[in-house]
Formats: sequence, C-alpha cells, structure tokens
Amino acid sequence: MIKVLVIFGTRPEAVKMCPVVKELKRHSEIDVIVCTTGQHREMLIPILELFQIVPQYDFHIMKENQTLFDVTEAVLTKTREVLFHEMPTTVLVHGDTTSAFAAAMACYYMHIPICHVEAGLRTYNPYSPYPEEFNRQAIDSITDIFFAPTKNAKENLLREGKKAEDIYVTGNTVIDALQTTIQSEYSHEVLKWAENSRLILVTAHRRENIGTSMRDIFEAINEIVDKFEDIKVVYPVHLNPKVQEIAKEMFDKMDRIKLIKPLGVIDFHNIMNNAYLIITDSGGIQEEAPSLGKPVLVTRNTTERPEGLIAGTVKLVGTKKESIKEGIKELLSNKEIYQKMVKAQSPYGDGRASERIVQILLKRWR
Ligand code: UD1
Ligand code: UDP
Repeated sequence: MIKVLVIFGTRPEAVKMCPVVKELKRHSEIDVIVCTTGQHREMLIPILELFQIVPQYDFHIMKENQTLFDVTEAVLTKTREVLFHEMPTTVLVHGDTTSAFAAAMACYYMHIPICHVEAGLRTYNPYSPYPEEFNRQAIDSITDIFFAPTKNAKENLLREGKKAEDIYVTGNTVIDALQTTIQSEYSHEVLKWAENSRLILVTAHRRENIGTSMRDIFEAINEIVDKFEDIKVVYPVHLNPKVQEIAKEMFDKMDRIKLIKPLGVIDFHNIMNNAYLIITDSGGIQEEAPSLGKPVLVTRNTTERPEGLIAGTVKLVGTKKESIKEGIKELLSNKEIYQKMVKAQSPYGDGRASERIVQILLKRWR
C-alpha cells in the first residue's frame, strides 16, 4: 500500500488539490490521507463540499489578521505530529502558500519525500509576490518530485540544477477543476443584475497590494465605472479584514459596483464564464480565465505565470491608477484587441493533470 498524505490550507490550494485527491481515491492500492491546515476556514468549505472530501485532519489554525509567523509556526509543529502518526510514503503539497512551505519543511526535517504540485513558477523577486516567491523557491529546494504545470516551469527548475528525471510536465490541475464546475445552463442573481451590461469581475487580496496599491486599483475601477455607463462590476471581497476595510471604504455609494461575499467555486467559475473581462491580482484566476476565453488584466508588477502573457490571454497593468485605467479602457473600447485576447489559446493544459500526477506516483512507489 502506498500512503499518500495531501496537505493544503487555502482556497486556491483546495481548488487545485481536490481533483488530485479525487483521482488518488480511485486507486485501491493508494491509501489517501487528507489534511487541512485550516489557514483558511469559510473560504475552504464550499470546495471541500463540492469534491465531497472530508479531511482526516484539520489543524484549525486560522486567526483574524494572522501573521506569517503564526501560520508558519502552527503548521510546522502540527504537521510534525501528523507525520509521526501516519508515516506516509510521500506527501503532496501545492504551490506557494505558507501552509505548503511549512508542511514541506516538516517533511524535510523527517526525511519524508515531498511531491510539489505546481512546481517551478518563478518571478525571482522575493517581495513580488510576498511571501509566495520565497515559499515556492524554498519548497522546490527540498522537493523530491516536481510536478511542473508547464514547459516553462520545467525550464526554470532545470536552470536551477534540479534533475530532469525528477521533473514531470503535467498541465495545471486547475483546468481539471473547471471540468467539474462549469455548467452550460447557469443562472445567478449577479448575472440577472448585470443582464444588459458588460460585467467586470474583480478580485484583489495580495499582501503586497494591501494599502496604497489596493486603493489605486479601486480608484481606477471607480473612475472607469463613472466613464462607461454600460458596465457593472462585481467584486467578491476576500475575507481578510484589511481587504474588507479598504473595499468598503473605496466602493461606498457606487450603484454599478456590487461588493459580495466570497463565492463558492461553482458560482465563481460560472460568473467568470459569463463576465466580459476579469481584473485580478490572483494567481489561479490568471490560469482559469484564459481557458474560458476571458481576458484578464493583472493588477501586479510581476507574474510567475508568463505563459498567459506570451499566449496573449492576460496583460499586466501594474498597480498604478493610470496604467490600470488605460488597460481597462483599451479592452472596453477596442473590439479588435479584446477579441484577440478572447481567442488566444490557454497554455495550462488539457484537464488531465491529476491523472498524470497519480500515474507518476504509482510508477514511482507501486
Ligand atoms: C493566502 C496565501 C496566498 C494566497 C491566498 C489565497 C500565504 C502567506 N498567503 O493569503 O498565497 O494567494 O491565501 O486566497 O500563504 N480569512 C477568513 N476566512 C477565510 C480565509 C481568510 O476570515 O476563510 C481572513 C482571516 O482574518 C485571515 C486573513 O483572512 O487572518 C488572511 O488570511 P491569510 O491566509 O493569512 O492570507 P491570504 O491573504 O488569504
Ligand atoms: N475563487 C472562488 N471564489 C471567489 C474568488 C475566487 O472560489 O470568490 C477561486 C478561483 O476560482 C480560484 C481560486 O479561488 O480557483 C483563487 O484563489 P485566490 O485568488 O484567493 O488565490 P491565488 O490563486 O491568488 O493564490
């Protein structure tokens, strides 16, 4: 029996790891243990429910305004206890969160092989995004098997001296998740509200954007809404109290901007599928929107996902008000540029990444 422990703690990790868990569970020779750190709480629930996954362990670590110290310390020590108890063959972590980093570090301390899903993404700027660039590089420095989503991610790893035989290009598991969520017949009150308008879907949560940059992003959106009468904006606000505070302050009294609670993943994906364009600082949304043919304006100065830029599905508009306004204006006014982004090909795979990951694990440890 191969014992595979899967650890995750935040919304994007859950979206991208649940399809892997589902696939692992299809194989009787694999004993799957799911562990959530509880770095996120409410935002994780709809995803676990959708995939019908009940974790065997939940560390319940989330605190309001938690610091990186709080998360790192709690995940490290609590993962240690689970590892002692379960002694898994291998542990799967995902991406670049502090949950993933601290869990990987616990595995390393106990000589338990680490598989890193979504390995090899890089900006090479440790403060952009912060602390994710450090987290992903640190995880990759102790990873045994690298599941790189794209060829570009594999090349980053090879350049850093990782062995070719340990790196597999799988595609991104987020595309697998989309196959579970997208519905051809879908309705939602937000879509009814925006029926005769062009709908812009907004998200913003990055730590390094909280403060001046986030205010700039929101001001740009306000000014665009004033200028274009045929648009409406929906923004499911992240539960981080600092983000909530800025959003409520900046979008006060704007009729055509709707602030709502974070959406369950089915609703989020389907509203994205019906939106005209997306404005976001999210990582995962940069990967999802292109496969739905939706242009994405990324309110960041760097991205670890250059594939979308090269394919022409996303554009970096930075975090300054004027450049963001220019980017939005262009897509709202220039049909040719808009259509070019709509038609660009998604570079993130065919929706079979989880299957590949599990086959590789079976080959390695059967
Ligand atoms: C974390 C990840 C980030 C990822 C993001 C996805 C780190 C350091 N950051 O950032 O890489 O892009 O998740 O969303 O790992 N909160 C709730 N309920 C929830 C979730 C969060 O109330 O279900 C609030 C809590 O007050 C919490 C705060 O949000 O303290 C911030 O959460 P945290 O996980 O520390 O940071 P994120 O910005 O969510
Ligand atoms: N998402 C969601 N509900 C929302 C906003 C986002 O389910 O209200 C999903 C989205 O589809 C994507 C993931 O959450 O799969 C992205 O998470 P987030 O932007 O918080 O993190 P990042 O990808 O930047 O790490």
